[in-house]
Amino acid sequence: MFFSFYTSIIRPVLFKFDPEFIHEFTMSALHFMGRTPLKYLLRQKVFNRPVEVMGLTFPNPVGLAAGLDKNGVAVDGLGEFGFGFIEVGTVTPVAQPGNPKKRLFRIIPAEGIINRMGFNNDGVDALINNIYDTGYKGILGINIGKNKITPLERSTDDYLICMDKVYPYADYITVNISSPNTPDLRKLQYGEAFDNLLSALKSKQADLAAVHGRYVPLVIKIAPDVTDEELNHIAESLLKHKIDGVIATNTTISREAVYDMPHAYETGGLSGRPLQQKSTEVIRKLYGLLGEEIPIIGVGGIDSVSAAREKMQAGAKLVQIYTGFIYHGPQLVSRLVNNI
Ligand SMILES: Cc1cc2nc3c(=O)[nH]c(=O)nc-3n(C[C@H](O)[C@H](O)[C@H](O)COP(=O)(O)O)c2cc1C
Repeated sequence: MFFSFYTSIIRPVLFKFDPEFIHEFTMSALHFMGRTPLKYLLRQKVFNRPVEVMGLTFPNPVGLAAGLDKNGVAVDGLGEFGFGFIEVGTVTPVAQPGNPKKRLFRIIPAEGIINRMGFNNDGVDALINNIYDTGYKGILGINIGKNKITPLERSTDDYLICMDKVYPYADYITVNISSPNTPDLRKLQYGEAFDNLLSALKSKQADLAAVHGRYVPLVIKIAPDVTDEELNHIAESLLKHKIDGVIATNTTISREAVYDMPHAYETGGLSGRPLQQKSTEVIRKLYGLLGEEIPIIGVGGIDSVSAAREKMQAGAKLVQIYTGFIYHGPQLVSRLVNNI
């Protein structure tokens, strides 16, 4: 076993603090460092492993998943770690506080996290302001959602408002309809609601592509808690509307893999190692339905080279990490990029 400075020295210190406090602290530190020469202290050299997906050339297939940098404040700092792409958000049309604290829990024995943040964010305008003058030159995905107070039947409006605003700044746009922490959001994944949403998004995309003279791919992020039948319908609609990509998966509401562990029964979405197999299964099934037609971005519990390879063997063209990054630190990025 090699010595890891992060897991041996840094993580034990970080984990002594409340998860959300340390998250805010780290984001502020990355924000500050990323905009000063201190950013060189964060820099990790990684191999150039270009992949072409959705018409974009990614310098490598390992990205940062949405939710870590919801407001796009730390893109410069995070970019130094060697990610092939960074996804910011979820951002909503107007700022909202999210759910009451405490709302973020470590499930340490399983290397998992349960969160019920509830799209706490400063609103789409603030996000644009933050990324406007970034020095980050890599691929940037912007993940959009609906405000909690917007009724479900009006949610398309929220996605269109966000799309309109982020379009000029995004390399791709992710439509998040799979967070378990916004009431009823996941209902948008099914039936007529899903079809109508995709149709509205595609038509908006065509308009914006004409206005800006640039085609920005649209990606849909789905939940792991779907039946085979639901997945069939989702895949059918994605194909019908020629969606550019799909992210599988968001967090799970299942607690099967963390039975009886501390915090396991907190309400929210579970991520990390307990999600690994479940999300890989969704990717495998989805790839069976989509083939090479629509690329899959695989996310869920990637904490090692073998876990990332499994996702790619199941059909993912790109992968993303979040919880593994919290447990294993920036070294996980270079290990993945250099070895998968
Ligand atoms: C604290 C936390 C907040 C998250 N917030 C978002 C979010 O705002 N939007 C989103 O699409 N996914 C969000 N996610 C889900 C992750 O992007 C990812 O899909 C999920 O955690 C599975 O990957 P992982 O096991 O590598 O963490 C969040 C995850 C965590 C742990």
